[in-house]
Amino acid sequence: MQKKLEQLRNDALKAIASASGEEQLQGIRVRLLGRKGELTALMKGLGALSPEERPSIGQLVNSVRDNIESTLEAALNAELERVKCERLQSEKIDVTLPGRNAQVGTKHPVSLVVEEVCEIFAGLGFSVAEGPEIEHDWYNFEALNFPPEHPARDMQDTFFVENDLLLRTHTSPVQIRTMLKQKPPVRIIAPGTVYRCDSDATHSPMFHQIEGLMVDKGVSFGDLKGILTVFTNQLFGQNTGVRLRPSFFPFTEPSAEVDIACVICGGKGCRVCKNSGWLEILGAGMVDPEVYRHVNYDPEDISGFAFGMGIERIAMLKYGINDMRLLFENDVRFLRQF
Ligand code: FA5
Ligand code: MG
Repeated sequence: MQKKLEQLRNDALKAIASASGEEQLQGIRVRLLGRKGELTALMKGLGALSPEERPSIGQLVNSVRDNIESTLEAALNAELERVKCERLQSEKIDVTLPGRNAQVGTKHPVSLVVEEVCEIFAGLGFSVAEGPEIEHDWYNFEALNFPPEHPARDMQDTFFVENDLLLRTHTSPVQIRTMLKQKPPVRIIAPGTVYRCDSDATHSPMFHQIEGLMVDKGVSFGDLKGILTVFTNQLFGQNTGVRLRPSFFPFTEPSAEVDIACVICGGKGCRVCKNSGWLEILGAGMVDPEVYRHVNYDPEDISGFAFGMGIERIAMLKYGINDMRLLFENDVRFLRQF
């Protein structure tokens, strides 16, 4: 009996020492100390011993059991500790790693051009004026000498709101609003959003214009040409091709349109310039006396010029963008380049 107990103790301690994992350790506990365990079976044999043997063997049984139990307990604790350390290690956060940078937005190319154009004209003594995007027919058309049913209204495909309200098709109504509020001399620019039923690589249904208006005693077409030359040279550089073409607007006489050499194809002709080598960026002219009549200015006393430029077209030329729709798709990979 004594030998069996010693043997059991040795085997148990070895098994515990070589066990790996909580499951194996629990298995050993069941195999030795469980209700049908090996030590339990030996203890059942105690009754068969003689009264002289019983106390010493009994003590040995207790000591073997305590020994196994405490060794198991220690091994289990060590195992739990090991598992915990492993988990902490795998979930470790390196607080010294550099953080993720907060993403900083960039200005939209349309905003960049508006800012730059306004800055150039501020340098020439122009101040900024504004008007509503939902406009009355009178300001958008009639006061600009587009009478009702006049065919020139077809030059701009209009989105109508209701009755005489429409989405302004150009920033020219700001000319009228400004002249009604203020007497000459006038020197303003008016940046803003305009709308036309129009859509392709160089036309957008919503786009931006900057209107310019200068009215004073003795303002001539030469002044208009001078201002536009200073402007295009500053915005595009001295070597950019610029041309003035005679044109027509009901509210200016004479009228011209200004083209910039297409930077996409270098003037060779492409989809953007419709194979002409040029891209129209603005319309301009001397304010028609008929317009002054609507705002109570005296055309005998003053004269002036006006111009209206397309911002998206300028942004395309300035940044080499070959499709206007890119400006409105809000793809951050595109927008971050500016
Ligand atoms: C006008 O809108 C006139 N109000 C300009 C003007 C002002 C003339 C003052 C005389 C005096 P036009 O329709 O050509 O003109 O448009 C002016 C510019 O806006 C064009 O040169 C072009 O650069 C731009 N543009 C016109 N339609 C679109 C469109 N659908 N999408 C983007 N840009 C456009
Ligand atoms: Mg035009």
